[in-house]
Amino acid sequence: MISYGYSLHIQSAVYFSRSFDILNSISNYIVVYDQILNPQYIEHACAEAKLFVPWPSGESTKSLSSYAQLTTHLTPYVTRDTTLVAIGGGTIGDLCGFVAATLLRGIDWIFFPTTLLSQVDSSIGGKTGINCNDIKNIIGCFYPPKITVCHADFLKTLPIGQLQSGYVELLKHALMCDKQLFNDLDNHFKSLNDLYDVGKLEKFIEPSVRLKLKIIGNDFLEKNYSDRIFLNLGHTFGHGIETLSNFTIPHGIAVGIGIIIAYRYAIIQGLNSFDDLEKIIDHFNRLSLPISCTFSAQDMISVMSHDKKKNKDGIRVILPKGLGQGCVIQNLDSTILEKIM
Ligand SMILES: NC(=O)c1ccc[n+]([C@@H]2O[C@H](COP(=O)([O-])OP(=O)(O)OC[C@H]3O[C@@H](n4cnc5c(N)ncnc54)[C@H](O)[C@@H]3O)[C@@H](O)[C@H]2O)c1
Repeated sequence: MISYGYSLHIQSAVYFSRSFDILNSISNYIVVYDQILNPQYIEHACAEAKLFVPWPSGESTKSLSSYAQLTTHLTPYVTRDTTLVAIGGGTIGDLCGFVAATLLRGIDWIFFPTTLLSQVDSSIGGKTGINCNDIKNIIGCFYPPKITVCHADFLKTLPIGQLQSGYVELLKHALMCDKQLFNDLDNHFKSLNDLYDVGKLEKFIEPSVRLKLKIIGNDFLEKNYSDRIFLNLGHTFGHGIETLSNFTIPHGIAVGIGIIIAYRYAIIQGLNSFDDLEKIIDHFNRLSLPISCTFSAQDMISVMSHDKKKNKDGIRVILPKGLGQGCVIQNLDSTILEKIM
């Protein structure tokens, strides 16, 4: 178990456990779960729940209307001592965290992330939120789950695209912050088949979570100029790709293409060598991860101009400096992007 907290002193804990035992200590809880999951399994695992709410997942669930419907549905069942248990991937977590933050001005919530992406990334750091006007995560707040349980059995039913999508976020932590972790991943994940090996993935989830917690630890609310910003590697480009694809390209896959674009951009800026890029492209190819998309630089810029990471100077992008480090540019140069795309 790892504990962490933030400036409002809400303590959070992350467990790596193939069990639901933690719920035995919770007296009054309701469960919102991704409707793709087996209801019998969930109802058996959360036997004492006061209410079960299967909910659609996917980017469209992070909307004002979905938020309004879910809070309206839950309101009659919620009191100050109610804990909301969310079971699902990153979209269910982002929505339920925001619902928990706003119901009765904040009730406790517990998250069982069920995708690789949500286990290594979205369940850690306390960001909750929904999209509005096609802008991702534009409404939201920091409100970490009281407990996160990374239960590896959920990974067994993930389709390969979702395993790839989550793997990119794991890889991103290594690329930005830990060269050794990247080398370990490179040695252990040699082909697409390795991603089906839940035991192997499980070994890398805890180090990746620890790395993210270490990075966010000093800047939980993302207010200071800190290493936390580097966790956004590939995300500005990735959000652009996700949006232009109408969310048919999964988040992590889009971020992966964004990472390659960021490496190419960094080479033109003299921040990186071809050797590193070749090594990463080789790794991507072995895991059948796409390294490019068909969208034009102009379309990307038009969408990225609405990204919430845009600042008054222009579009802010994170670039890699070698393996294991990063830097920020405040104003994306469209002519460089045109050369790359
Ligand atoms: N809060 C954060 O800090 C943070 C960080 C990164 C990403 N995100 C957000 O996370 C979202 C992406 O998360 P995601 O990829 O988990 O998306 P998701 O919740 O849409 O899940 C992806 C797909 O996997 C299915 N699924 C979930 N669990 C499953 C299981 N155990 N077996 C089989 N299928 C399963 C879902 O039904 C869905 O079709 C994006 O909205 C992104 O913005 C948030």
